[in-house]
Amino acid sequence: MIEIREITENKKQYLSLLLLADEQEDMVDRYIADGTMYILDDNGVKGECVVLPIGGNTLEIKNIAIHPDYHRKGYGKALIDFIIEKYKGKYSVLQVGTGESQATIPFYEKCGFIRSHTIKNFFIDNYDHPIYEEGILLVDMVYLKMDL
Ligand SMILES: CC(C)(COP(=O)(O)OP(=O)(O)OC[C@H]1O[C@@H](n2cnc3c(N)ncnc32)[C@H](O)[C@@H]1OP(=O)(O)O)[C@@H](O)C(=O)NCCC(=O)NCCS
Repeated sequence: MIEIREITENKKQYLSLLLLADEQEDMVDRYIADGTMYILDDNGVKGECVVLPIGGNTLEIKNIAIHPDYHRKGYGKALIDFIIEKYKGKYSVLQVGTGESQATIPFYEKCGFIRSHTIKNFFIDNYDHPIYEEGILLVDMVYLKMDL
């Protein structure tokens, strides 16, 4: 049975999962202490996500990752649906930032997010090395949003 639970102690025990979504550890360190972490357990931990209020009634998904052996089984969407249920009425907008990548944007759109805006050169300006996803260099941060 799928169980999603909050982790309050030693969130970096899940660093290997966190790095799947955000491969530079000092970028993870920007939000891991203040962020709220949930793990999805289905006969073992299969994924995690971290959310953080960013002001203006907006909650941001800072990190979401499912173990590569368990992609496309609905676990990612289960985490998003859990966040929506948990935070609706508490925040008015749920947003997520990602690279311009076919590995992530279609997933978020399937979950109900709509493209909002981009931050030009975010990956170039904030990471100390080039970030590639499916062979494509990530440059701008793409934000997607949904109303809660
Ligand atoms: C992105 C990620 C969290 C998706 O998790 P997942 O458990 O594989 O996704 P789900 O099985 O819940 O997919 C939900 C829907 O999105 C679709 N989807 C998922 N990944 C997709 C992709 N790469 N391309 C197209 N559609 C995709 C699924 O087919 C499914 O659609 P359906 O409801 O019609 O069947 C997962 O691929 C992952 O951990 N990636 C590595 C880390 C990462 O990049 N995190 C995001 C950083 S911004």
